[in-house]
Amino acid sequence: MSGTEGNTERRSVTVHMVSSLDGFIAKKDNSVSWLDSPGSVYEAGVSISEEEAAKFVKAIDCYVLGSRTYEHALELGWPYGDTPVVVVTGRELPSARKSIEFYSGDLKTLVDVKLAPRYRNIWLVGGAMLCQRFLELGLVDQIRLTIAPVLLGEGLRFFGGSLTEARWNLKNVAAYKNGFVELSYSATKA
Ligand SMILES: NC(=O)c1ccc[n+]([C@@H]2O[C@H](COP(=O)([O-])OP(=O)(O)OC[C@H]3O[C@@H](n4cnc5c(N)ncnc54)[C@H](OP(=O)(O)O)[C@@H]3O)[C@@H](O)[C@H]2O)c1
Repeated sequence: MSGTEGNTERRSVTVHMVSSLDGFIAKKDNSVSWLDSPGSVYEAGVSISEEEAAKFVKAIDCYVLGSRTYEHALELGWPYGDTPVVVVTGRELPSARKSIEFYSGDLKTLVDVKLAPRYRNIWLVGGAMLCQRFLELGLVDQIRLTIAPVLLGEGLRFFGGSLTEARWNLKNVAAYKNGFVELSYSATKA
């Protein structure tokens, strides 16, 4: 259970994804070395201390993952600690930790009925299929897109062909010493 349970403040759903310069979020062979720091330094960039990063991550109340991202995270080493995680799947999957719940069904119900009463700061961290579905359904409040300084040429595209035109408001740009750039946007309210 999260410390924010019973919280009446409005929930916020943030999509967070790391993309290559040419718009891919995964390589065909699922290898992740392209996410490593390139070694060169962008002098005008900022860097975050471990304490700042830990404080930031602590403010996340819940992660939501598609099942393929879940399976890949288990292979790589669980990065979400004991923070609650909801995995969206139509399959019966084994639960690797106590903090994991599985969900199958309507995604608006997931957000409005299952998550919103319990969590405020909800992070949807992939993959492409689940993020696109959330975007199509208008369930996303913020997009944080981190661009890695690498061209991949092929792989899994973050934004597929199913989205329609929509404007987003730029909220922040952060360029890091390692050459990664983070773009933060909020949804335009209708
Ligand atoms: N670069 C990054 O920041 C980043 C972040 C996250 C993931 N990734 C990568 O992206 C890849 C995975 O992405 P992906 O697009 O292939 O898959 P995904 O979105 O992680 O998972 C897709 C699965 O989620 C379930 N799902 C999705 N929508 C659903 C719905 N509306 N209702 C019920 N279940 C639903 C289905 O599971 P079932 O088939 O089990 O029913 C579907 O097969 C991996 O390689 C991962 O490493 C990269």
